[in-house]
Amino acid sequence: MAKLTINDIDFRGKRVLTRVDYNVPMTEQDGLMIINDDTRILATLPTLKLMINSGAKIILTAHLGRPKGERVPSMSLRPVADKLAGLIGQPVEFCDQCIGQAAGDAAAKLEDGGLLLLENVRYHAEEEANDADFAGQLAGDADVFTNDAFGAAHRAHASTAGVAGIIAARGGQCAAGLLMERELQFLGDELEAPERPFVVILGGAKVSDKIKVIDHLLEKADTILIGGAMAYTFKLARGFAVGDSLVEPDKTGIALAALQKAAERGVEFLLPTDNLISRMNDGAWTDPEVNSAEDIPDGSEGVDIGPESVARFCEVIAGAKTILWNGPMGIFEDSRFAEGTFSVAKAVCGATASGAKSIIGGGDSVKALNEAGLGDQVTFMSTGGGASLRFLEGKELPGVAALTDK
Ligand code: 3PG
Repeated sequence: MAKLTINDIDFRGKRVLTRVDYNVPMTEQDGLMIINDDTRILATLPTLKLMINSGAKIILTAHLGRPKGERVPSMSLRPVADKLAGLIGQPVEFCDQCIGQAAGDAAAKLEDGGLLLLENVRYHAEEEANDADFAGQLAGDADVFTNDAFGAAHRAHASTAGVAGIIAARGGQCAAGLLMERELQFLGDELEAPERPFVVILGGAKVSDKIKVIDHLLEKADTILIGGAMAYTFKLARGFAVGDSLVEPDKTGIALAALQKAAERGVEFLLPTDNLISRMNDGAWTDPEVNSAEDIPDGSEGVDIGPESVARFCEVIAGAKTILWNGPMGIFEDSRFAEGTFSVAKAVCGATASGAKSIIGGGDSVKALNEAGLGDQVTFMSTGGGASLRFLEGKELPGVAALTDK
């Protein structure tokens, strides 16, 4: 890795500002905010344990939700401090400010190996504006900056980029945490020179969200499988009827350009040849049925890939040596439309068991794998949503760029 990692740093007695992505889903129960999924907290434990064991005084900074510069009580990180304390097995101090006297005092009290979590940085509008003064206050007296927040690394905010510039300017090192390092390794290095065949599975609603990813991966993949509603924009571009399916009619041009690039580069580009279709009546899906034709009838929407496509996709996946999957094949949240997504999930795990490397690019595909109870049967699941997509487009992430070069 071209950037310093926490393995390169001597932490003993140092005050370390550490950016983590604790943007975890929560729901309110009897006036308390309950964390529904602690994956992102668990994912930071190796980094925190290494720094604790090396005697660092750790000041954690993070965002939760999008409070847009306001103190929104339901977006407080306090419940995360309690959760982290339980998971890591040591006290985690919480400060209800992220800058100012209280935050500075709490940081000054830290012992070697101690942990402090600061309140949501997005309670200040200056965070997203990457305001230099705010970044300076957040950096406080930190000697070192470490960043394990891959999920927020595509944001050029004060806590991801600004603080690094300030700490580096006074001679401090800025290093990637172990989670950040793994994310960059699997979504970056492993896909640079993948073992072939390299199969990319892309789904989700919109072509516009993924077109840059498709464009970048067309330079590397042997086969690209397309599912989800984005497949219907490709079908529309190729002249098929899509009924009432979710499409982006203004994106057929870029869809055709991608199909042409695939043909020129000899990349196999597979769209579903059949679908599960359904009709929306009074806000509810009705009459799901398999549509074996390429055209979708008027009044119906494609909601999942059909059995023929499932079989074809799974056959391709079974032959892969490297797999990248991002995005569901249909509306898997409705169990009637989950077959395509869960079959792909099982095929990816099957290929992994036979020696393929499988990398799951965050978001809904991770959710689907976890719902199918298969989360531990793939090689790597990213904790990033938007960040993974941005990185898979081949872009440098501001939170990574800001770290110290080796
Ligand atoms: C995420 O959940 O994808 C990250 O925490 C980034 O959150 P954001 O999209 O609100 O910046």
